[in-house]
Amino acid sequence: MKMIKKVSELQEIIKGLNMSPLGLVPTMGALHKGHLSLVRNAITECPLIVVSIYVNPTQFNDKDDLRNYPRPIETDIANLNKVLRENDIVFNPDDNEIYPVEDKRVFSFGNLDNVMEALHRPGHFNGVAKVVTRLFDIINPDVAFFGLKDLQQLAVIRELVRQEGYRIRIVENPIIRESDGLAMSSRNTLLEPELRKKASIIYKTLSTAAGMLRKHDLPEIREFVKKRIGKSGMFSVEYFEIADERELIPVSSKSEIRKNRQYYGCIAVMAGKIRLIDNIEFPVVA
Ligand code: PAJ
Repeated sequence: MKMIKKVSELQEIIKGLNMSPLGLVPTMGALHKGHLSLVRNAITECPLIVVSIYVNPTQFNDKDDLRNYPRPIETDIANLNKVLRENDIVFNPDDNEIYPVEDKRVFSFGNLDNVMEALHRPGHFNGVAKVVTRLFDIINPDVAFFGLKDLQQLAVIRELVRQEGYRIRIVENPIIRESDGLAMSSRNTLLEPELRKKASIIYKTLSTAAGMLRKHDLPEIREFVKKRIGKSGMFSVEYFEIADERELIPVSSKSEIRKNRQYYGCIAVMAGKIRLIDNIEFPVVA
């Protein structure tokens, strides 16, 4: 594996190797088994992959979140070293490589701008779009790998690819969880021990809620989720929505559910100062 910080060097190496399909796995580091599952998937599909590690300042709407974001680069490199092949590349640029001049672009994603994460993290997806298009333009991958953990991000990326006309195949990867069900996240390491212990309530509640659709309507299910997660006083639900995976339009009653679509229950929870997101498929019942 090669570790590269400069755009020019990265482009020269990729050109020299001339291997396709070229895979890209964008990350912000603090790698866990979720990230590594994306990397493994990329390796099985592509003879050459680039894993980027870059904590992108333009997607953080909260300065404390950016400052506190974990950056264990040595451990990340050691973990990647166990998985990557000789030619695979870790791209770990500085800010001035990604943003040599201020990036003032404004993206627009229709309904995706008006729901869930977009409402609670203003400007977040615009920043994601800035960095992902920069990475796409620098690396020019054939395939890029993203996790279903960030369901709305995945929908935004698909829309971005469509709008900008990129010829890049987007591959989605399932959510990898801790043994107690908590979705793996770089932010989990920031949880106070007591909160970490109890955080499995999020997935447990989502799983129960997903089975309630047969007998209950959505307002009741939403009420159940908010109450059960909030019960201990340690967590508060920022939002819980049931939305289709394509447009992410939240539905407010069973009658709005369309048979030919897949639905997900999507949640954001504050655990102390740490914000956690998760989602689960809601099987549509006939
Ligand atoms: P980051 O949070 O580091 O996540 C990188 C990729 O790993 C994303 O596609 C995310 O969905 C996926 N991922 C995270 N946790 C996962 C889990 N438990 N199971 C499966 N996949 C998981 O998402 C970002 O970085 C950034 O927004 C980025 C796309 C890199 C742009 O800066």
